[in-house]
Amino acid sequence: VRRLAEAARLAPSPDNNQPWRFRPTRGGIEVWHVRDRAIRSDVRDMFSWLALGAAIENLVLAAGKEGICGEAHYLGRPFPESARGEHVCTVRLAAAGREPDELGEFLAQRHTNRRKYSRDAVEVEQLERIAEALRNPGLSLLWITGKRAKREVATLVRMADRIRFECQGFHEELHGSLRLTSGEAATGEGLPFEALEVPGIMRTVLRFLRPWSRMRLLNRLGASRVFARMSAQAVRASGAIGLLMTRSETDEGYLEAGRGMQRVWLAATRERLALQPLGGLPLFLTRLVDDPCAFSPAHATRLRAAGEGLRKVGDQACGGHLVMLFRIGRAEPASGRAGRLRVSELLASDAGEKSGHSGSGSQCPD
Ligand SMILES: Cc1cc2nc3c(=O)[nH]c(=O)nc-3n(C[C@H](O)[C@H](O)[C@H](O)COP(=O)(O)O)c2cc1C
Repeated sequence: VRRLAEAARLAPSPDNNQPWRFRPTRGGIEVWHVRDRAIRSDVRDMFSWLALGAAIENLVLAAGKEGICGEAHYLGRPFPESARGEHVCTVRLAAAGREPDELGEFLAQRHTNRRKYSRDAVEVEQLERIAEALRNPGLSLLWITGKRAKREVATLVRMADRIRFECQGFHEELHGSLRLTSGEAATGEGLPFEALEVPGIMRTVLRFLRPWSRMRLLNRLGASRVFARMSAQAVRASGAIGLLMTRSETDEGYLEAGRGMQRVWLAATRERLALQPLGGLPLFLTRLVDDPCAFSPAHATRLRAAGEGLRKVGDQACGGHLVMLFRIGRAEPASGRAGRLRVSELLASDAGEKSGHSGSGSQCPD
């Protein structure tokens, strides 16, 4: 159980918030959602479910390596609740009758790489092998490889990122997760500065910009445009852009999408390709549908235009709800890796356990 939880916690999560807990039961492991750790800007719990889905996939793959077959059984709303959070899934474990999945070999290697990627196109065979790893008819993966189309998507990412820098809520959420010193990063949560792949001077700039009043002032001088342009450049100069879509906009659909996202990421790792999720656009477009008033009229108009642009770039035939956009390509290994909470904090027992932040985690040893 400990080994399986160790593997599950290596999964990616938005801003490295790790919104999960695990509880061993007879014949399985329960997966719980820790709402206290969910990002505030989430909508429909979509990003929490993507992260939990990735953790479930890691659990199942790690079980396979132990000669055990793991099968996910999802619970529906209202989820059973307790001090440990919301119980969303149980992975039932049984004797395996098949070979372990090769993707299980790449759990520790997979990571977010925010470096500049090579502009060289990724080989078509590699993209095909990655798409084959998805193995879920409810999900579709669309690759964007053309120079012009990549440039168009980069423009849409820039539009979304500008909004992220221009809204107080998003600004505070980002700064709440940034860990600018090694002391801050030692909690094992959040985004360490080294993983951002920005010049060292940005540490001081980011610290200066932490109060919203300063960021707002500098936005008038064009700061949000400059920052958004940096992410757009990275998108433009990548090997390919991927769009992951689900046909089911339900809790289970998003959890399954998280499993698919993780399989794609692990398959990219197997191909020695770097990957960075670009979560802003899918999250904002979903929020625009559910809660348009969350955006100023100017931002809502910009987002509608971005959604329209994405539909034009993407193949209409693929359909489905966009859950994740990401870039992949060849790159040097990442300069820094995000930490993880200690496994002992994530394994819930019935006696005296408590949900939420404890802030006493440690750096992931790998
Ligand atoms: C749902 C989701 C959304 C994410 N969005 C972004 C994003 O917009 N930009 C980014 O650089 N990383 C994004 N990430 C990557 C996380 O920041 C990363 O997984 C986390 O910091 C842990 O680091 P690791 O992936 O290197 O283990 C996202 C991850 C998930 C699961």
